Amino acid sequence: MINPTPSLFVSSCSKRCPRGVESFLDRQADEYVFYGAGKIALRDGVAGLVEPGQNVLVPAYLPDAVAEPLYDLQLEVRYYALEETLAPNIADLESRLDDETAAICSVNYFGTPQPAIERIQSLADDYGCYHIDDNAHGAFSVDDGTLLGTRGDIGFTSLWKLFPIPNGAVLYLNSENARERYRPSSLATVRERFDTADGRFVLASMLRELLADRRSVQHTIETLLSRGDEPAVGGPKARYDDAKRPMSKLAMSVLENADPLSIRRRRRGNYRAWQRVFADCDDVTFVLESLPAGICPQVAPVRTDDPEAFRTTLERAGIGGVNGWPRLSSTVRDDPTYETARRLSTEVRTLPVHQQIDPAEIDAIGETLRQ
Ligand SMILES: Cc1ncc(COP(=O)(O)O)c(C=O)c1O
Repeated sequence: MINPTPSLFVSSCSKRCPRGVESFLDRQADEYVFYGAGKIALRDGVAGLVEPGQNVLVPAYLPDAVAEPLYDLQLEVRYYALEETLAPNIADLESRLDDETAAICSVNYFGTPQPAIERIQSLADDYGCYHIDDNAHGAFSVDDGTLLGTRGDIGFTSLWKLFPIPNGAVLYLNSENARERYRPSSLATVRERFDTADGRFVLASMLRELLADRRSVQHTIETLLSRGDEPAVGGPKARYDDAKRPMSKLAMSVLENADPLSIRRRRRGNYRAWQRVFADCDDVTFVLESLPAGICPQVAPVRTDDPEAFRTTLERAGIGGVNGWPRLSSTVRDDPTYETARRLSTEVRTLPVHQQIDPAEIDAIGETLRQ
């Protein structure tokens, strides 16, 4: 069985050469602040740069709750259309820019560099607005010597997507202007003590492992414990409100003992193992064109004609977490302008590549599937 996320009780990539996430970030970013969630980092980072009533441009292929911090700041959210390459449709993006545009947000999908990053930056320069580098997926991805998330005026990343931790994110303050205007909220901190949410998370993680083969019991217990590691069920606003917590002490303890470079190496190895598994399958295509050096994938996203059958087959072969991504905003779901984002959200399924998977396990799954 390949679990969708790493376990809290396995110390892969931590004991032999602990370097810690903080020292990795110290080397890669000018100025950064820890948060519990990317959405809260986004809100604090943007707050000092905007006036209520201005608009922010975000890609249509985005989880619905990511707009919530912008609504919280009384901004208008304008979704722009994307190409199949995950670059913006530049004509559509440009048509939405005006004098009231405060910022353009671009996304490094699944941990790989946004293909049109330079074009987006130059549009932001031309229109005199800020650029937000959303790197929620790729905390340890370095492109040509630059850490993803550190390219716009501000950027952010979600550490909880790579680790078995209750929460954890980083805000990058990249430009001088963003640094000067930044006023941290009370959530821009790491808790000094373990709290009940940490306790619940540990308990839920233990139960999940004990009941790994008994999915229905596991589901009931997790609901009772209302896990902190996955978005709460409910609408986007409820999920945003649920994210309003500082980074947990448990999260920091895990991060202090982690080795980002080793995690990146392992995730890349697992991504390549999935490429081997599906090399000869015409009906499974990888969403990302390539895996450039220095990139740390969050997952291996693939497209198939029959995503549900694909998920069921892989689940039967023992692979958890073969999910669709993301839950789109209703604005996007209801508007044919965003056809590409809508199609991607239906067709894409994500394969786990986390650091605790042995690539041999993936190769073995490949054998099973071939038989
Ligand atoms: C592209 C993208 N941006 C931002 C976020 C928000 O990050 P967080 O869940 O840490 O608040 C997510 C979360 O899934 C995301 O996928």
